[in-house]
Amino acid sequence: MDRNLGLEMVRVTEAAALASARWLGKGDKNAADQAAVKAMRSVFSDVEFDGTVVIGEGERDEAPMLYIGEKVGTGRPPQVDIALDPLECTNSVAFARPNALAVVAVGRHGHFLHAPDTYMEKIAVGEKARDAIDLNLTPAENLQHIADALGIPLENLTVVILDRDRHEPLIRQVRTAGCRIQLIPDGDVSAAIATALPDTGVDVLMGIGGAPEGVLAAAALRCVGGAMQARLRLRNQQEAERARAMGVTDLDRIYTESDLARGDTIMFAATGVTNGDLLRGVQFAHEGAVTHSIVMRSNTRTIRFIETHHSFINHPAFEGS
Ligand code: FBP
Repeated sequence: MDRNLGLEMVRVTEAAALASARWLGKGDKNAADQAAVKAMRSVFSDVEFDGTVVIGEGERDEAPMLYIGEKVGTGRPPQVDIALDPLECTNSVAFARPNALAVVAVGRHGHFLHAPDTYMEKIAVGEKARDAIDLNLTPAENLQHIADALGIPLENLTVVILDRDRHEPLIRQVRTAGCRIQLIPDGDVSAAIATALPDTGVDVLMGIGGAPEGVLAAAALRCVGGAMQARLRLRNQQEAERARAMGVTDLDRIYTESDLARGDTIMFAATGVTNGDLLRGVQFAHEGAVTHSIVMRSNTRTIRFIETHHSFINHPAFEGS
């Protein structure tokens, strides 16, 4: 797979971020999402590859664009699978909150888990603590093992958790263990990646978030050397059937980051839409905008942070400006 494909993907995530950021704070998450989807799809069409969306906007009958199974790119080799979220954290754009990203991951055909659009329990950490996590253990046991692996006292661990009622018992256990907690309104993809990067101030992601987001986070962690364990949390029979229909045979299986995003070649690109632990959001000026992106490749574990200055003139994301 051409290593420059990752850089092409940055154009794709930049376009989605620029288009959706125009909806910042306007209270309309669907419009922000649609703008991201449209812009991402339009830039994809020029990329030299034969891509199939495997993590996308939904099933074909519920999502008109970037649905699961949709072909993207010029149709010429290489043949790859695409996991994407044109706007991760739709509410964060609608209500000007942190952590919204435009995200694309690329892998060889068949290498991403076809995750159903359900929940997933996750624990994610950076490289040093990779052998310290086990979803079969209690949160307290995991936190102690992680602190030991990092060589720091438990009180110095910062745990990121989505601010949801379902996490009340988890939050209580983490507080009892003595760790700091960073509650986030949305955005566990960004939070998972932040655990594996230096100087982000967060050490562990814990809790239940979206399963497709789990695959995207795993792809990124493969590129930075972080680790993750995850298990589907299916709420009813219908979700279980959907998971089986997508090829999941063991519904209780614990996946590692390498099970969710397999193989030797994974590329990951993301552009910030709103400010977050990982990336700054889109900054608009009178004549253009600045975007901040990350692009990474698992083979070499190269991590590039790209700041791009866009002019309003002739930019597809600014049509009608
Ligand atoms: P959206 O992009 O669909 O708005 O998802 C944002 C998000 O916070 C994800 O980061 C997270 O995995 C998921 O939602 C959690 O789901 P819920 O909001 O139902 O708790």
